Amino acid sequence: MASPSLICDAEQWKDLKAHVSDIQTTHLRDLMNDVERCKSMMVEHDGIVLDYSRQRAHQDTMAKLFELAEAAHLREKIDRMYNGEHINSTENRSVLHVALRAPRDKVICSDGKNVVPDVWSVLDKIKEFSERVRSGSWVGATGKPLKDVVSVGIGGSFLGPLFVHTALQTDPEAAKCAKGRQLRFLANVDPIDVARNLTGLDPETTLVVVVSKTFTTAETMLNARTLREWISSSLGPQAVAKHMVAVSTNLAFVEEFGIDPANAFAFWDWVGGRYSVCSAVGVLPLSLQYGFSVVQKFLSGASSIDDHFYSTPFEENIPVLLGLLSVWNVTFLGYPARAILPYSQALEKFAPHIQQVSMESNGKGVSIDGIPLPFETGEIDFGEPGTNGQHSFYQLIHQGRVIPCDFIGIIKSQQPVYLKGEIVSNHDELMSNFFAQPDALAYGKTPEQLLSEKVHNHLIPHKTFSGNRPSLSLLLPSLTAYNVGQLLAIYEHRIAVEGFIWGINSFDQWGVELGKSLANQVRKQLHQSRTKGKPVEGFNFSTTTLLTKFLEVNPGVPSDTTVLPEI
Ligand code: F6P
Repeated sequence: MASPSLICDAEQWKDLKAHVSDIQTTHLRDLMNDVERCKSMMVEHDGIVLDYSRQRAHQDTMAKLFELAEAAHLREKIDRMYNGEHINSTENRSVLHVALRAPRDKVICSDGKNVVPDVWSVLDKIKEFSERVRSGSWVGATGKPLKDVVSVGIGGSFLGPLFVHTALQTDPEAAKCAKGRQLRFLANVDPIDVARNLTGLDPETTLVVVVSKTFTTAETMLNARTLREWISSSLGPQAVAKHMVAVSTNLAFVEEFGIDPANAFAFWDWVGGRYSVCSAVGVLPLSLQYGFSVVQKFLSGASSIDDHFYSTPFEENIPVLLGLLSVWNVTFLGYPARAILPYSQALEKFAPHIQQVSMESNGKGVSIDGIPLPFETGEIDFGEPGTNGQHSFYQLIHQGRVIPCDFIGIIKSQQPVYLKGEIVSNHDELMSNFFAQPDALAYGKTPEQLLSEKVHNHLIPHKTFSGNRPSLSLLLPSLTAYNVGQLLAIYEHRIAVEGFIWGINSFDQWGVELGKSLANQVRKQLHQSRTKGKPVEGFNFSTTTLLTKFLEVNPGVPSDTTVLPEI
């Protein structure tokens, strides 16, 4: 591997910088007329089509990006990841989420040990346990079957599983398997989230899954204690053994909390929190809801993309192409954001999940060797399903700031509706927008076109669309569990590619620590002010004033009282 240096010093980087002015002389309107160019920007793999012809790029740009990939040692970095090397150097860990969905007979090693058998022993345990719960052979403390599950966790222990759950809810096969069951997610330490999630649930028929890699996260542990209280105050403390299970890498803390280690589902420190949805973090709650065989299809979809990412030449490699184009947009064209726009309500939680995967991974200020970066990394990810977004923030995307967009469309709806007398099906109506929006962004509308439509002069500037706004389209054949797995893995690997090119560590997250430790200080102050009447001290003027105000109005509750929220 090359000695520590920044990728921006490479000739290939400088070449791309110089190339920006070539692109600035072109308009997407013209680029889209070049059919050969467009043909070369269409890739298909395992039913998924990527069309990146509406990127502000031509074949030359792509060639330069592939050269940059070579300069950044992208191939070697991917290999090092798959070989289990400690590429997360600040935490001295391998990065092996690909092992979580590998077939049983695959060999993937971390620290000289094949981890695939460990993965499968947890998957087998989940299969067995979820079948017992779903069949009613595992019952609660009062002998009733457990039909509802509350998964308690935050960040990576929440967003991925929520995305997959939301995507599967309306898939006919998954929905059939989930009949009569509910899966809810409690993430925020806000007691309002507790109240919302417990509404309508009966502790007698509820299983709580506490999901935390570290088993120390303040929000999750307080929520777990709150739900433990909810169970034991109603069914007695002995009921906890039947109504609470855990997913963690820290089995000692699980036991200390009072959950039987036999009912704990392990994962490993080589699984990053935001990359953990394919571990027990997602597989356990989702198997309880949908059955293991549906979840296995999701894992297979992700695994198929893992193979594609590992073995396909970069020119045809969907995650690599997406990652390189993101680097082009962020670093060279200077577009700081990315909109994720799935034309499927089932994908409504996709953007929030990718927001964590991307922004926690790539929002860094130094290289992997600790050198301050003279360029920006990461992008601001946000998104909403179409067409809802169209009636919200698309105004800005069309006529305000330039935001590269990912349009994600599905060929076959999970829930088709065709009304008699309508010229198209409901899904066709949705997809008409999916096909139209990228062209509206690329082509825009000129003053000449408006004049020919006899638009009043004073309105012409307001009705003009500059166009030349980049987007890409991903078309999926359907939205089965398998396709959901594919989509997840495409984005996970794309984000890794970006980080590999920028030369950062995409797998640590030191940026979340400072706020956490300051909150510890505030927590101590609140406790001491309440219990010992201690004045607020050690904070700046602003925080002191705000805290004092908070304490004045919030007298607190006596320490021996438990108040569980109710709505
Ligand atoms: O927000 C920081 C973070 O460490 C995430 O990376 C992680 O997904 C989340 O907290 C939850 O952590 P845990 O699973 O250890 O409770």
